[in-house]
Amino acid sequence: MEDAFKAKAAALVDDLVEKGAFDAIRDLAEVFPLTVFPDALGIDNEGRENFLTYGAMVFAGMGPENDYFRSLMAHAPKVLPWVAAKCLRQALAPGSFGAQVYEAADTGEITEEEAPLLVRSFLSAGLDTTISAIGMALYSLARHPQQWAILAANPSLARAAFDETLRYDTAAPYVFRTTPHETEVAGVPIGKNEKVLLLIASANRDDARWERADQFDITRRVAGHIGFGTGIHGCVGQMVARLEGEAVLAALAERVASIEIAGEPLYRDSSGLRALSSLPVRVVTQ
Ligand code: HEM
Repeated sequence: MEDAFKAKAAALVDDLVEKGAFDAIRDLAEVFPLTVFPDALGIDNEGRENFLTYGAMVFAGMGPENDYFRSLMAHAPKVLPWVAAKCLRQALAPGSFGAQVYEAADTGEITEEEAPLLVRSFLSAGLDTTISAIGMALYSLARHPQQWAILAANPSLARAAFDETLRYDTAAPYVFRTTPHETEVAGVPIGKNEKVLLLIASANRDDARWERADQFDITRRVAGHIGFGTGIHGCVGQMVARLEGEAVLAALAERVASIEIAGEPLYRDSSGLRALSSLPVRVVTQ
């Protein structure tokens, strides 16, 4: 996927840099994954903006059933069947990794019924997360001009910069678990069938683990952050996500000497994701 991702990032960033000013979320963070990721999965172009509504629904569902959640769920009767249809065998391009999931069904590794659900899990977990993470990376870098200067001088740090954002301002700040039996964590007893909120964002800024935990530093040894979760449910798509983040940040770093925030950044209403809906920026070319 690397060549396709890099080519798309270069073309997109070329256009934006020529404009000089753009919205780093609406024009870049949302546009890039929405192009390359469904392409890699093997999904056609029709109606792709529905994926933004679908992603918002999935992550709003991690929180309370508030007005925001209900307003999104109003789209469910239209969007859910649309997404399900895109995950069917006949809808996926040959050679895509969606098609490879169905090949696993053909060899008996998974069942035929599991195949569309697995393809859908990539869409639920793999699009809005990446959009949010690329957005937060651009925001972190725009807020730290010295870090941008380091990246612009050495674009090969793009992957490390993306990972440092997943530590410093992580896109998926928490996950839940349910206790199957009574247990104890750090001396705190927890009963059976309790919901436990695990704060990834807090662990990623733990002073006991990280030096200068609250400092954004793209040159630090960032391995060991848990922005992609950990253990058996650790993110299955993290290499794809890193490839996307790296492609965008490297394309920008190769062309842009400085990036500055040109308007008020807006946070998205989302219970499950830490993400912006708008980040107006101005860039100066190398
Ligand atoms: C920067 C972008 C991403 C972030 C921050 C992220 C974050 C995470 C986190 C924190 C988990 C653990 C959930 C838990 O423990 O309950 C997870 C799991 C998962 N991710 Fe990602 N993810 C990203 C991109 C992707 C992509 C691109 C894909 C698909 C190609 C993907 C597919 C999945 C799947 C299927 C799981 C569930 C794994 C399991 O339960 O066994 N993610 N992700």
